Amino acid sequence: MSADQGRASGVGSAEAAAATSDDARDGLTAGRLLNDRFAPMQGGLFADVTKADVGDGVARLQDQGYRILSWADPWFPDPALAPGVRKVLQDSVDAPGTAHYTLPIGGLALREAVAQKCLRTNGLELDPRRHVLITPGSDSGLYFAMAAVLDAGDEVLVPDPSYPSNAVNCRLLGAVPVLVPMAASDGWQLDVEAMRAAITPRTRMVVLTHPNNPTGTVLRRDRLEALRDLIVEHDLVLVCDQAFEDFIYDDVEMVTPASLPGLWERTLTVFSLSKGHGLSGMRVGYVVGPDTMMDALYGSAVNVVGATNTIAQAAAVAALSDTADLDARWADFEARRHDVQRILGEVPGVRVERPESGFLSWIEVRDLGTGDEVAAHLLRDAQTSVNSGAPYGPSGEGHLRLVHGCYRDPAQMAQALEAVAASLTRLAAQKGVS
Ligand SMILES: Cc1ncc(COP(=O)(O)O)c(C=O)c1O
Repeated sequence: MSADQGRASGVGSAEAAAATSDDARDGLTAGRLLNDRFAPMQGGLFADVTKADVGDGVARLQDQGYRILSWADPWFPDPALAPGVRKVLQDSVDAPGTAHYTLPIGGLALREAVAQKCLRTNGLELDPRRHVLITPGSDSGLYFAMAAVLDAGDEVLVPDPSYPSNAVNCRLLGAVPVLVPMAASDGWQLDVEAMRAAITPRTRMVVLTHPNNPTGTVLRRDRLEALRDLIVEHDLVLVCDQAFEDFIYDDVEMVTPASLPGLWERTLTVFSLSKGHGLSGMRVGYVVGPDTMMDALYGSAVNVVGATNTIAQAAAVAALSDTADLDARWADFEARRHDVQRILGEVPGVRVERPESGFLSWIEVRDLGTGDEVAAHLLRDAQTSVNSGAPYGPSGEGHLRLVHGCYRDPAQMAQALEAVAASLTRLAAQKGVS
């Protein structure tokens, strides 16, 4: 399950609070059997967990009739398959390989399609037999890439705010995330000098979400070049998650850091078919990197990923060759970000930042309350789930993340935005914000 559906404050589970653990019955404690990295993780069985993507959070919300604008899944919950992908899935019933594993590193047809796409859009010239690993979604690719490099106690520079998995993965691996703030006043760009100041002898890695989730910003070339110099100087590894790279607006340049001189040999780049191609249900992602690192990932893929779903890989080949579908989604989401500005931009105390990428809106609401408070208000008052900015890091406080890419029909989304705007306007009036 993707770790990025954020918080839906107030979604509790009364049963959870009342539940008795099997351990309690057996006189054990989870902490005794689990390691220190996993034991603190809470899945909602024994305590109220308010993240929509943990346990059954989003299913509860849906069952209770809430509107979901907190699930980073294009056109969710509506049908979204592109025609070419649909055809491949239909044909898969009779395809000879359907019942069988592909290679654990991924079938060659998909690795070739990935190499062509990376040449076309990322400036990367890849050998599909040496530089590409197919993974079941990019979350597992991100974890695998980090696991291959990090030892317990290693420090990882993580720009803040960014995708929560960056920090959580560090903790699961026994490493230490070192959050380096980015500022709205700097356009949420990397503060490379602050990153330099955060380096210690234990620093081993930088993890970027680029374009960023939740801010929607695209990291600029000059900052990436400065970061490259820092990474090379300190012999670090870069892991760059480009799950949101497919939709870039306003002619902003999208630089793939691995294409910068000096970075390829120390970078693992993680990609997804879930966001741009709207295939989250297929669970396909890929990692690309230098053959020296890839050799270790290829060697261990059978143990870790097993193999990615055979039918899903065939669907991914079709998706990567169907840029018409990407173009259609791009046009839809490009228009929607203006709707968000128009509809929410008028609400007192609300500042809407226009995203440079993707289908997420990043909205400052600090005059109305904390992110958690305002998200909880919207759940109660507008029966709408949005994400608090808090789980994305301390710099996300006072913000909401709203997924304006939900619902296939833009009119339905506009209606949802009107409901959110009306509810925030009521909150502003209550708070005396004008
Ligand atoms: C920045 C980012 N990276 C990776 C993922 C994981 O996507 P998937 O595992 O579906 O490829 C997400 C999902 O929300 C995301 O937001």
